[in-house]
Amino acid sequence: MAENLLYYGDNFDVLKHHVKDETIDLIYLDPPFKSNQKYNVLFAEQNGTRSKAQIKAFEDTWRWDEAAVTAYKKIVEGGGNVSRLMQSLHSFIDGCDMLAYLSMMVPRLMELRRVLKHTGSIFLHCDPTASHYLKLLMDGIFGPGNFVNEIIWHYRKWPSGKYAFQRNHDIILFYSKSDSRKRTFHQLFMDRTPSTLKRFGTSKIVSGYDDMGRRLPSKTEEKDSEGVRQDDVWDIGRVPPIKQLFPTQKPELLIERIILAASNEGDTVLDPFCGCGTTIVAAQKLNRRWIGIDITHLSITLIRNRLRDALGEGVEYKVIGEPVSLPDAEKLAREDPYQFQFWALGLVGARPVDQKKGADKGIDGRLYFHDDTKGIKTKQIIFSVKSGQTSVAHIRDLRGVLEREQAELGVLITLHPPTKPMRVEAKEAGSYESPWGTSHPRIQIITINELLANKSIDSPPSKVNVTFKKAHKVMENGTNNQEWLLE
Ligand SMILES: C[S@@+](CC[C@H](N)C(=O)[O-])C[C@H]1O[C@@H](n2cnc3c(N)ncnc32)[C@H](O)[C@@H]1O
Repeated sequence: MAENLLYYGDNFDVLKHHVKDETIDLIYLDPPFKSNQKYNVLFAEQNGTRSKAQIKAFEDTWRWDEAAVTAYKKIVEGGGNVSRLMQSLHSFIDGCDMLAYLSMMVPRLMELRRVLKHTGSIFLHCDPTASHYLKLLMDGIFGPGNFVNEIIWHYRKWPSGKYAFQRNHDIILFYSKSDSRKRTFHQLFMDRTPSTLKRFGTSKIVSGYDDMGRRLPSKTEEKDSEGVRQDDVWDIGRVPPIKQLFPTQKPELLIERIILAASNEGDTVLDPFCGCGTTIVAAQKLNRRWIGIDITHLSITLIRNRLRDALGEGVEYKVIGEPVSLPDAEKLAREDPYQFQFWALGLVGARPVDQKKGADKGIDGRLYFHDDTKGIKTKQIIFSVKSGQTSVAHIRDLRGVLEREQAELGVLITLHPPTKPMRVEAKEAGSYESPWGTSHPRIQIITINELLANKSIDSPPSKVNVTFKKAHKVMENGTNNQEWLLE
């Protein structure tokens, strides 16, 4: 079986330069939806150029700006169906953020069509904000004849807004690459409704018509029915916020269903917007080969941890595109300090803080933890990341933030080695005494070099970067457990 691959980068570039024609059996993609919700997305490459340091995380950033206009023009100049379609859309919705979003999607969908095998299938996850436009794009790129299903994923969530029905579904557009009869599709089955079960039990039901064309009463056969064929409305619970690794995380069950229906063991599944890796974990569990791509360093680190938490150390895969040495890290810091910050926080499993919140001034990332044997008091580690020169003032600032936040631990992650006065100032902050009986420096300085050499934070009672999401660690005496929670 070929290698599993996890790419950090813009999926357009990765697909174009690394994925060969007709090599993928199944694609599931869950791009940011262009709704006004905030997403954990770093996206600015509408024109295929390197992202700029000014990119704002956690925000939909599609704007009908110069980059979007360039992307739009490129599509139109390319000619063909999609060009005509985009021109029509332009005359209808004009230059707007939605057109910017669609202009980002077109070249990616075209690349996805190229890499998909003749017998392959693609599932595009979206919501009603853009699904009608995306379906037009899919028709334009994959052909209307290759449309297979519109799957409605229905879920429950907290009610919001009063003057409309609750918006409780997403849409998954299922297309095939061709009308090949060799396309993989395994029929899945649902449970019978309670009324059918009551009347017919689990037996196979046969029905027919008499000579006059009148319907005969249904009868049962001795053998059991296979079940009811899976329909296109799927009721599956959302991942509850408390259990989410990622704000837009999809349930494993949803993606497992797609993988089971549209691929075989050993097939290759690709997720070009892989977020916290739901597709990857599902594919791995179902013995498929996988390729994941994401543009955030945070995602890559979350996926690494998630695979290890869910499946242990034995999963074999290669990560491509992440800094693996100090010069790589320096290059990333020069090119994109935001990405550097996320990547560095990812090394310790911390989550970035929304910088727009004034209350979080001076904090780049956070980790919450519980080490209280009696209560459920939430404690926290505050992170500050510096890619430029550092001085004792940074340690003083961090001490101030710790005080303000009443946090237990503060960690400065730095690209450059700390000075002696910084170390002295950090030492003066004293230690945090955990109820486990362990002692940990309240202010810690850790360099990127040390993190790359697998050094971890001194925290109670084990490594933060190993237990980053939620780990229950039974203490040696077997009496208690602790949980690490992400913000
Ligand atoms: C809606 S989330 C996917 C969530 C995923 N299905 C899960 O269950 O975790 C979209 C992801 O696409 C990533 N993304 C956005 N633009 C991208 C691009 N051009 N290339 C690669 N990844 C991108 C974002 O970083 C984000 O992680």
